Amino acid sequence: MSRDADSHETGASPSDQPSSDGERWRSSSGLRSDGGETSAAAGADEVALDPWGSSSVADYRKLFEDFGIAEFEDLLDGVPSPHYLMRRGVIFGHRDYEPVAEAMREGEPFAALSGFMPTGDPHIGHKLVFDEIIWHQERGGDAYGLIADLEAHSARGMTWDEIDEHARDYVLSLLALGFDPEEGTLYRQSDNREVQDLAFELGAEANFSELGSIYGFDGETDVSHMQSVVTQMADILYPQVADEPKPTVIPVGPDQDPHMRLARDLAARTRYFGVTEAYASFEATPTERRLIGEAYEDLGGEDVRTDDDAEDVRCEDAADWLREHEPAPDDARQTAIEKLDAAGMEPVRPRVRFLDQHAPEDAFEALIEAVDGEKRVYDAHIDTFELSREEADELAREVELDHGGYGFRPPSSIYHRFMTGLTGGKMSSSIPASHISLLDDPEDGYDKVKSATTGGRQSAEEQREKGGKADECPVYELYAYLLAGEDDEFAKEVYDECVGGERLCGDCKEQAAQLMTEFLEDHQEKREEWAEKLDELDIDLDSDRKR
Ligand code: TRP
Ligand code: SF4
Repeated sequence: MSRDADSHETGASPSDQPSSDGERWRSSSGLRSDGGETSAAAGADEVALDPWGSSSVADYRKLFEDFGIAEFEDLLDGVPSPHYLMRRGVIFGHRDYEPVAEAMREGEPFAALSGFMPTGDPHIGHKLVFDEIIWHQERGGDAYGLIADLEAHSARGMTWDEIDEHARDYVLSLLALGFDPEEGTLYRQSDNREVQDLAFELGAEANFSELGSIYGFDGETDVSHMQSVVTQMADILYPQVADEPKPTVIPVGPDQDPHMRLARDLAARTRYFGVTEAYASFEATPTERRLIGEAYEDLGGEDVRTDDDAEDVRCEDAADWLREHEPAPDDARQTAIEKLDAAGMEPVRPRVRFLDQHAPEDAFEALIEAVDGEKRVYDAHIDTFELSREEADELAREVELDHGGYGFRPPSSIYHRFMTGLTGGKMSSSIPASHISLLDDPEDGYDKVKSATTGGRQSAEEQREKGGKADECPVYELYAYLLAGEDDEFAKEVYDECVGGERLCGDCKEQAAQLMTEFLEDHQEKREEWAEKLDELDIDLDSDRKR
């Protein structure tokens, strides 16, 4: 992989970064310390996004190109006082996070939710997600942390006893890191009737072949495993049924992206009405619509709207215009012409359209009533000439909610980088030396850091001369992702000293090991304080399930 290209792409930095040096540091330290080099060197540039497999991302750029995940950096400027994980590029991607950022800016309602499979100890990789939920809660979001116990049982075969034990540990760490249980919601899937009911309803919108093609399910897949998928869909949309529809962010690793895409689809599929724009009474595809729009404008359509004496632009005029103007004949142009010809003398007029997707009849009737001003009612759509797109969106949601619909907004997501294992390669829950558990004895944490692989050179001399490879160093990652906390200066100092050859690995690891010890001591103290108060919380950590 080309590291230079990487730094170019990420080098465009928001203006609040003081110096170009600061820019370089941020993109380098954050975006490049992903351990990607190891896997790229091994020749793997393919990206597997498998929620239950071993997800690996050899090249994060592929996620942008191949999966349509957007770069977080592009909207960083619009996020009020971004989290350090955002500033350092650890949170590298998103789907549709803008509505959440906007809600934060405007002081409007929003929510954040993530879930944890209780299959082992919570470790410092999970801490990233805990921190993300908490950060959104501190900014006024409704916050949710859930224990994905149904998923752990069905997809990972955990017993309920094991699940109970781990569930407790996740909850304690989330609380110890600052989650406010008075303001936020903690639940386990198995205990949340509303989530299960919603899962059932959402399951009616998806079928087996779809799950098969998204997740690779086949005839051998447990039905319960499939049920855990619709349960996750319900988790993701739950904040919008527990309260009103609102922008909701799901902070997760990119391995969960298949779930996000399905959840966004299902959210749209349950909607009573679709809202689109149109130029005439017939339905057009987005490309056809664009072409018709061009014809309309060029034929002076704008004048028709403002000047009473201007002649109407008719569909047949637009068809003629397209025949003459759009040089390369393609399908959309051809079909647009056919549709326009069929509409003949009908005037072209921009409008906002409500499409009846599957609204009950009384809801459709109510929407007709609710549309103010000039409108035209068809079999399965209503055209309105005086509402803006936004007003129409709002009205559609209102009517839907009044008539028993969900009115979901598509949920958003943010994606963080996977941490590199302390032993190199992936950080994995099943390899204790590769990660630091939040329950590790502080001394063990110390030892693990001390024995971690580094991006250091063969000898101290060589290191002084060439500098260390902080971008490939799991220890540097510990600083950037965790140990430096809010302190950007400190993280930058470690980086600069390392690559400048002033910092040698022995001392560097000693410092990191000490900071890790302090972190674990402090975290575990807080866990103990919460353990005393756990009974008062509204989450049952002893399930009476068997098997
Ligand atoms: N599938 C997630 C995991 O493997 C856990 C999960 C369940 C989840 N429901 C969720 C994550 C809702 C985010 C949102 O860790
Ligand atoms: Fe890693 Fe520190 Fe060594 Fe640099 S000096 S390679 S950051 S351990």
